[in-house]
Amino acid sequence: LKRTTIADALKSVETGKEINVKGWVRTRRGNKNVSFVALNDGTTINNIQIVIDIALFGEEFLKPITTGSCINVNGILVESQGQGQSVEIQAKEIQIYGTADPATYPLQKKGHSLEFLREIAYLRPRTNTFGAIFRIRHHMAYAIHKYFNDRGFYYFHTPIITASDAEGAGSMFEVTTLDMNSVPKTEEGKIDFSQDFFGRQTNLTVSGQLEGELGAMALGAIYTFGPTFRAENSNTPRHLAEFWMIEPEVAFNDNTDNMNLAEDFLKYLIRYALDNCMEDIEFLSKMYDNELIDRLNFVVNNNFVRLTYTEGVKILEESGQKFEFPVYWGADLQSEHERYLVEKHFKCPVILTDYPKEIKSFYMKQNDDGKTVRAMDVLFPKIGEIIGGSEREENYDKLLKRVNEIGMHIDPIWWYLEIRKFGTAPHAGFGLGFERLMLFVTGMTNIRDVIPFPRTPNNADF
Ligand code: 4AD
Ligand code: MG
Repeated sequence: LKRTTIADALKSVETGKEINVKGWVRTRRGNKNVSFVALNDGTTINNIQIVIDIALFGEEFLKPITTGSCINVNGILVESQGQGQSVEIQAKEIQIYGTADPATYPLQKKGHSLEFLREIAYLRPRTNTFGAIFRIRHHMAYAIHKYFNDRGFYYFHTPIITASDAEGAGSMFEVTTLDMNSVPKTEEGKIDFSQDFFGRQTNLTVSGQLEGELGAMALGAIYTFGPTFRAENSNTPRHLAEFWMIEPEVAFNDNTDNMNLAEDFLKYLIRYALDNCMEDIEFLSKMYDNELIDRLNFVVNNNFVRLTYTEGVKILEESGQKFEFPVYWGADLQSEHERYLVEKHFKCPVILTDYPKEIKSFYMKQNDDGKTVRAMDVLFPKIGEIIGGSEREENYDKLLKRVNEIGMHIDPIWWYLEIRKFGTAPHAGFGLGFERLMLFVTGMTNIRDVIPFPRTPNNADF
């Protein structure tokens, strides 16, 4: 008998037929004569009820069927007497694949706190909450590829190991095969990276953008979608040391095209979630955040407000609001500032443009005022910055001047500068933090809860 997924079994109307399901026991209850098992196989938030006639199997055989155990069931699909589900399974044959001793199995049928579940991240996908989140995560990843594929963008694979610091922020994880106990030194006493695997110093990438720009200068429109790594202080609810980023890069786009793409892309993804993940979103909304669905619909149906950084700072300065971090022209905005603009002032997503060049990366196109760059950050309710992007400096002399001004080493990015000499063209792109998107779509408030294996300071166990 071929296995039927529980998602399909629950939708089936073919009662009276024998079917096979396999899954993990969520709960088992009942009386002397009959046992009811709620079974889940990860294909849906809903469990199917297995009705077991105890006389048919014997108490002793059924004993190991406890929360967390895995069973294989043949039985007749019948209309359900109980409320909530339309069908259930009358068990005919049961095989126990794996037991889960109730004395040691960490997950019990009572709800656990998210904090506790973080400590047992290797088991939390078995819970309703994390089942829902990781199903949504899958659908969002698929929707990202679909969005770009349908619009003629190519998925361009950029390297994980690089020699360059794409953001120029110096928060990289080093990759080395050198023996840390006897590091080779040069005559000046510096680490001799020429003896390292690649013959030079290398790092995990902080962004695929620089290589992505090369892709766009050949294929027109590309996107990257992969893990990125930052050794910055990630002890916040919105930062991970390892997070996934989506970075489209488009030849001939200016910053307005860039903003239009970002807004359309975000709305598409949220609409996709509403259309394809509603059962899971409804569950999360009921459990954690009853304004979630309204918030998702609002973003899909309203235009984002666009204004300059300078205008945004003015609003913040005049707000009379007491912020933890001071706000003034030239300050890097903190999430409290971003959320004030979005949640209190405009009550809608905001795109801020034209930031001071000092607080943005070296590659952004410089405005004629000599002070600002053609940046754009998309700010979301509950999140703050969800996207950061810009038009790129395509002029070789201006870019080189900026690199020298801020004292960046040219050696690891010489090739990036070089393409400005060969058929340079205007282009623009942005980066969407996948987990920030996941926070918004699921309504969760800690970024550790939207990725299966979060990497944060002192946390790389599993
Ligand atoms: O603003 P960021 O640093 O921009 C870049 O990396 C550019 N290279 C993107 C580009 O133009 N192609 O990062 C982009 C986004 C942020 O808006 C945020 O959503 C997310 O990546 N992000 C993080 N997400 C989780 N943990 C972290 N430590 C993050 N740092 C950035
Ligand atoms: Mg940013």
